[in-house]
Amino acid sequence: MRRFKILATARALPPRVLTNAELETMIDTTDQWIVERTGIRERRIAAPEVATSDLAAEALLSACGAAGLEPDALDVLIVATSTPDTLFPSTACWVQHKLGLRGPAAFDVSAGCSGWLYGMELAASLIAGGGARTAAVVGAEVMSKVVNWEDRSTCVLFGDGAGAAILTACEEDRGLLGSAWGADGTLARVLYQPAGGTRQPASAESVAARAHTVHMEGNTVFKHAVTAMSEGAIEALKRAGVTPEDVTLLIPHQANTRIMEATRARTAIAPAKMVSIVDRYGNMSAATIPVALDEARAAGRLKDGDLVAMTAFGTGFTWAAQVLRV
Ligand code: UT7
Repeated sequence: MRRFKILATARALPPRVLTNAELETMIDTTDQWIVERTGIRERRIAAPEVATSDLAAEALLSACGAAGLEPDALDVLIVATSTPDTLFPSTACWVQHKLGLRGPAAFDVSAGCSGWLYGMELAASLIAGGGARTAAVVGAEVMSKVVNWEDRSTCVLFGDGAGAAILTACEEDRGLLGSAWGADGTLARVLYQPAGGTRQPASAESVAARAHTVHMEGNTVFKHAVTAMSEGAIEALKRAGVTPEDVTLLIPHQANTRIMEATRARTAIAPAKMVSIVDRYGNMSAATIPVALDEARAAGRLKDGDLVAMTAFGTGFTWAAQVLRV
C-alpha cells in the first residue's frame, strides 16, 4: 500500500452554462439526442480570456485554503491536462506564474481523460518513495477551445473545469490500496488533435482545415472505454484485495452515462454507489474525476476510511484505475 492522506479537494468551474437547448440553436442537434446518447444536459464554458492554468490555479488555491497550507508548502505540483496553455512551459508552471509561486517541482501529465489518475499514481509513488511529502494533483481542461463547434458529433460532449487534491504522507492505512494502468499507442489516431505540435505545426492551412480541434471516432472510443475501464477497475479491486461490496463509491471518468453504466455493471458495484456529474458538466477530460470526488466529499458521501474505486480511459489510448482509502 502507498500511504497518503487527502488533506483537501476543491473544484473550479466557469460560471457560464451552455445548455443542450442553446446547442440546438447552434448546430443540427436535439436535447433528446444528446441526453439519450450521452446523459449530458449542460456543460460549463470558460470565458475567452480564461486558460487552463486559470482554472487550475483557482482549484489549487481553494484546495490549499481548505487544507490550511500555503502553496509554497507543496513539494510538487502536477497538472493533468490535454489542453495546456502553451506547448511549453507546462501548465503547472503557468499556475506558478499566476500565483507568484517559486519552489515546488511542477510539471504536466499528458494522458487525456486518464490524466488525473496518472497524476495520482505518480504522486502516490513520489510520496511512498520519499521524493515528496506533500503533493498537489490538479486535473484541468478548457476543452471548449479545442473542439470544432461545427462538428455536432464532438462539440456537444465536452466541458471546461478543474479539480484539485492535496496529498500528504501519513502513517495511517490510507492511500492507494491497488491500481492498474496502461496505454495503447497503436490507437493514437482514434482520438487526437492533429495540428499544433511538431507533426503538423500551426499554419494557415492547418487552421483552415480545423486541424487544431478534437478528431474522434466516437464508436471505437466507446467500445474500448467500456472494456478498459471495467477491466482496470476489476484488476485494481483485485490488487487491493477488496470486493465490489467493500467499495463506498465508484467514480468513473465522466464521458457518457452509457459508458459509465456499462462499466459499473461489469464491475458489479451497486448502482447507488456510482457518482455521476456528467449531466451538469459534460466530459471535462482530466478534470472529471477530481471534480466528482470533490462534490462527493462536499455532499458527505464519504467518511474516514471509506474506499473509492476510480477508473478512467482516454486519448492515447490510456487507462487507469485505483482503489483509494480516504
Ligand atoms: O473521454 C473519452 C472521450 N470520448 C468519449 O468518451 C466518447 C465516446 N463515444 C461516445 O460517447 C459516443 O460514441 C457518442 C456519444 C460520441 C456518439 O454516440 P453513438 O451512439 O456512438 O452515435 P453514432 O456516432 O453512431 O452516431 C449515430 C447518429 C449518426 O447519424 P447517422 O449516420 O446514423 O444518420 C450521427 O451523425 O447520430 C448522429 N449524430 C448526432 N445527431 C444529433 C452525431 N452527433 C449528433 C448530435 N446530434 N450531436
